[in-house]
Amino acid sequence: MKAAIYPGSFDPVTFGHLDIIKRAAQIFDELTVSVLNNKTKTPLFSVEERVKMLEEATRDLPNVRIESFSGLLIDYARDKNIHVAIRGLRAFTDFEYELQIAQTNRKFSGGDLDTMFLTTSLEYAYLSSSTVKEVASFNGDISQCVPEFVGKLIYQKYGYDR
Ligand code: PNS
Repeated sequence: MKAAIYPGSFDPVTFGHLDIIKRAAQIFDELTVSVLNNKTKTPLFSVEERVKMLEEATRDLPNVRIESFSGLLIDYARDKNIHVAIRGLRAFTDFEYELQIAQTNRKFSGGDLDTMFLTTSLEYAYLSSSTVKEVASFNGDISQCVPEFVGKLIYQKYGYDR
């Protein structure tokens, strides 16, 4: 069985992430989307909230499971006996950062964890969780960026009722 992990912050999940999840779920038998519990960042949503949002947004995808992890991705992947990490590439500017992480993970895992990049669909190439939060914080329209139920939760965080 071919399995992969799609790790990320997902704070919150966007249509860009969902595009990658759907496509990776077609390539692999099982896809684990895993939310990083990063104690050094101050996220808008708790890990539990992010996991719940991802579960709701992917409930029509039977071979996708949602988890969270802390620590190194290579340790988490080794524990799960998974050897492929999925990452989305939106633009050239993502490449250097992603290449460095991918090379580090491959080297430090002794070749056990490879990274497969999927290019984000062009319609979502501009999209990032940070942009979505910025626009929502000013009560701007994010309906093209995230599922409706996610949008509602983001506006709630910023004190808007819409
Ligand atoms: O959505 P993000 O924040 O761009 O995802 C980054 C992520 C989670 C893929 C990356 O930060 C990660 O894997 N962190 C876990 C810690 C780790 O393994 N670091 C070593 C790579 S340099």
